[in-house]
Amino acid sequence: MAVPNGFLLWLLAVVGLALGVLFVLPVGGADVPIAISLLNAFTGLAVAASGYVLANTLLIVAGTLVGASGTILTRLMAQAMGRSLANILFGAFKATTVAAHQDEQRSVKSGTVEDVAILLGYANNVVVVPGYGLAVAQAQHAARELVSQLERRGVSVSYGIHPVAGRMPGHMNVLLAEADVPYEQLKELDDINPGISSIDVALVVGANDVVNPGARDEPSSPIYGMPIFDVDRAKSVVFMKRSMRPGFAGVDNELLYNPKTTLLFGDAKDSLTKLLAAVKQL
Ligand code: TAP
Repeated sequence: MAVPNGFLLWLLAVVGLALGVLFVLPVGGADVPIAISLLNAFTGLAVAASGYVLANTLLIVAGTLVGASGTILTRLMAQAMGRSLANILFGAFKATTVAAHQDEQRSVKSGTVEDVAILLGYANNVVVVPGYGLAVAQAQHAARELVSQLERRGVSVSYGIHPVAGRMPGHMNVLLAEADVPYEQLKELDDINPGISSIDVALVVGANDVVNPGARDEPSSPIYGMPIFDVDRAKSVVFMKRSMRPGFAGVDNELLYNPKTTLLFGDAKDSLTKLLAAVKQL
């Protein structure tokens, strides 16, 4: 019995829908952007395939471009997070927010703007590690102004740029370039980590997952294997955020409870502006 073409089309659509949903459902936490990038690459390949069927050169060229660039981006992002693609797609994330609440009763050290200004103003060298919170607060100009003020005092400052800080590739580079931060001041993981123990202050501005020592030390952590800035090995850490909430991956961060960490609660732009004024008063 001949099967009507319309039926086959619908069957294919339903199977495709089910496959699509089942394919992305187990992906969670910080792996979502990689899955999105992979799906983006697939759309390119689908366009190229339809170009082949329709004998349309433009579709083939455009589709191959999207497919190739999407595949390269997916690979680079997976590498930056220290995970294989197979592990991301098939190693489903465990429930992660539980850990975030287990430590609610633990004590943390929170400081005032004046405490932090003294710490920064009398340091020899400082590393600023920006993250998603810097973007949310649009604090890039305030960060650059504070860094310039510190440099006027003779403090050596660089920015630690993690490849997946923020929510898109190059997010921090774009923001800091917009604030006229010199490119030479932007350092990668390999530039910062080997000498981190000689850094007086690591200033974490709205970052969280990219400085979470659990990614390095806890094999049970959902972000285990992702390279991080080892700021917990700096002489002291200032952590700027608004609350004790975890970052994108939903994982608790041991660094918040580290005795050498001073938490400066508040919106990053607001805190940086107040810090600038306080450093000027020193
Ligand atoms: P997150 O781990 O998401 O942490 C951001 C931190 O910023 C949070 O702790 C948040 O704490 C704080 N924050 C938010 N708004 C703020 C504000 N206005 N002022 C001050 N702090 C603020 O960011 P990250 O360290 O940059 O890591 C990026 C994460 O996103 C990684 O897990 C990465 O895999 C994932 N990701 C990356 C990309 C790419 S390609 N870059 C794409 C999608 C996802 P409070 O809420 O307490 O303030």
